[in-house]
Amino acid sequence: MPEGAGTRGGAARPLVVALPKGRVLDAALAALRAAGLPLDVDGGARVLRHDGASGSVLLMRNADVPVYVDLGVADVGVVGKDVLMESGSRIYEPVDLRFARCRLSLIRPSGATGPVRRIASKYPRVAAAWAAGRGRHVEVIPLKGNVELACLTGLADAVVDVVETGATLAANDLAEIETIAESSARFVVNRAALKLRAAELAPLIDRLREGADALG
Ligand code: PRP
Repeated sequence: MPEGAGTRGGAARPLVVALPKGRVLDAALAALRAAGLPLDVDGGARVLRHDGASGSVLLMRNADVPVYVDLGVADVGVVGKDVLMESGSRIYEPVDLRFARCRLSLIRPSGATGPVRRIASKYPRVAAAWAAGRGRHVEVIPLKGNVELACLTGLADAVVDVVETGATLAANDLAEIETIAESSARFVVNRAALKLRAAELAPLIDRLREGADALG
């Protein structure tokens, strides 16, 4: 059994929770605290591991949350559905936490009419799956950030990226051509931990669902 996957017969050590650094962190902590898991992340933004009586928090890039949870180093985590889709991970996602809502969309310069032959994206798997689903032969160019720049410069004909407020589109005269997927934060659980730590995780999941329902 990987370290961190719990022990048979009970919760021998505090839960290990993988959380993304950045704008989702505060909402994730608030949701978990409201559900009865008072996690502590005091000590400064550069501290990556926060051990407390009710749980250990590991702070990481959002794309790494599915990796830590899938391999059992973390029992649970919070991550966006967009990141989960791109990861291809098959970890349990029992709760849609309903915050950090956004969508993954196909984006082009306003008025663009030519064929889409190259798509740039931080979500190359999602972009490739979208193209395959439509039987289109498209070259996908993986980028790390500010991907809208790719279709402003001619690096690509279109991008697949997150749209949240739409401010980036408006500021760069870009148009949202098609919504590929809706996204929001998900509570994710390692498969072994879900069984081995069921006594503490089942009520936590129930309370997280109640809190998410309250968000509408
Ligand atoms: C994300 C995304 C868009 C922007 C969309 O970028 O890639 O660029 O936010 O949000 P909006 O619709 O509210 O404008 P992020 O700020 O995460 O930076 P990055 O591109 O460097 O990853």
